[in-house]
Amino acid sequence: MDPALNPFKPGSGLRPPALEGRDREREEFDLLVARSKAGNYDRGMVLSGLRGVGKTTLLNTLAEHAERQGWLAINIEARPNEAGIAAVRARLGYELAVGLRRFSRKHQLHKVIDDLVSLARGFTLGVGLGPAKIELALGGRAASGDIDLDLEELVEAISDVMRKKGAAFGLFIDEMQDLDPDLLGALLAVQHRASQREWPFFVIGAGLPSLPAVLADSRSYAERQFSYRTIGPLSPADAADALRVPVEAHGGAFTPDALEIVVEASGGYPYFLQEFGKAIWHTAPASPFDSEDAHLAVEEGRRALDDGFFPSRWTRATDRERRYLRAIAETGEPTPRSGKVAAGMGVATTAVSDVRDSAIKKGLIWSPEHGRIAFTVPGMADFIRRQPTA
Ligand SMILES: Nc1ncnc2c1ncn2[C@@H]1O[C@H](COP(=O)(O)OP(=O)(O)OP(=O)(O)O)[C@@H](O)[C@H]1O
Ligand SMILES: [Mg+2]
Repeated sequence: MDPALNPFKPGSGLRPPALEGRDREREEFDLLVARSKAGNYDRGMVLSGLRGVGKTTLLNTLAEHAERQGWLAINIEARPNEAGIAAVRARLGYELAVGLRRFSRKHQLHKVIDDLVSLARGFTLGVGLGPAKIELALGGRAASGDIDLDLEELVEAISDVMRKKGAAFGLFIDEMQDLDPDLLGALLAVQHRASQREWPFFVIGAGLPSLPAVLADSRSYAERQFSYRTIGPLSPADAADALRVPVEAHGGAFTPDALEIVVEASGGYPYFLQEFGKAIWHTAPASPFDSEDAHLAVEEGRRALDDGFFPSRWTRATDRERRYLRAIAETGEPTPRSGKVAAGMGVATTAVSDVRDSAIKKGLIWSPEHGRIAFTVPGMADFIRRQPTA
């Protein structure tokens, strides 16, 4: 098949040729947007799931929808570690300034928005400098340097303008489990206040399966603050559509057997579907794609995953973390007890609790329930078992 026309896109947050199986989340969000237009404010949403399952793609789709419906939609991606914290805060201020300008052009609100833009800028400076006071050219208003107060003031001022326009302010946060605790706590507090006071402000977050627990640890009321959605693999019918629809759009086809082989091998994981779809387009000499094409494509796709998707996580781990990850894989269980993993390494659970924590912080593993551990990347255990021991 012509490689220039290959529609499949394995990657991070790349818009897939066919976004399948997310109708429920999209409908729920459509309803939130529609109700907000009528001054009826619902809870924000939190999307959580494993790596490569399509969270970023879905989050971006929702943000684009919100913007088309007249919202001020701001996207940021949280990052772990100290350098990430400062970068994310700066990014938030910058994206707000840019988003507000775009909004003002659309609604011809120049004067009001200029004031908000300086407030957004001041917020960034304020949080960057801790408790230092920054005077702003905004009618004597100053960023206090207290992140809770500053964020509340900013959100209130923006919400006020949005309400008058029948619009809303949506903050779309990817990798939300990595937000620094101060900013996260402040955002949850502001979201809480916003719903009490009926400000049109919504946080829409996406992140790893640990995200709901991270939010609940930050603020006890977080559990009631959002509509939580688990983003999982696609059903076999949706997975088949994710492959079939883009191929048919180019006049191609799969035999039923070929489609079944690829769907089955993908486990319904969107990233794997894109990788296998790309491979079958590449390997098949002609359409319709038959079962032999499908077997070859799965082999080529797996090689591509072994060269990119898995190593990009594996190489991020330290030697000790890798030994721990290998011990998890060697239990052969999807969610082994931490005690069993440690026993497999011949040590006490406490002797490896620090590696366990650091691997969790890196987003390599998570704890689905107390005392148990699991990979955040589907298929990671098999990949590790295929790696030669050092
Ligand atoms: N509903 C879907 N149907 C088909 N393909 C999809 C769907 N959602 C996402 N994809 C594709 O799957 C791949 C992974 O998507 P995405 O980057 O959004 O996942 P993610 O959950 O954010 O992963 P990570 O946790 O690594 O950030 C992309 O190539 C994307 O095009
Ligand atoms: Mg993502």
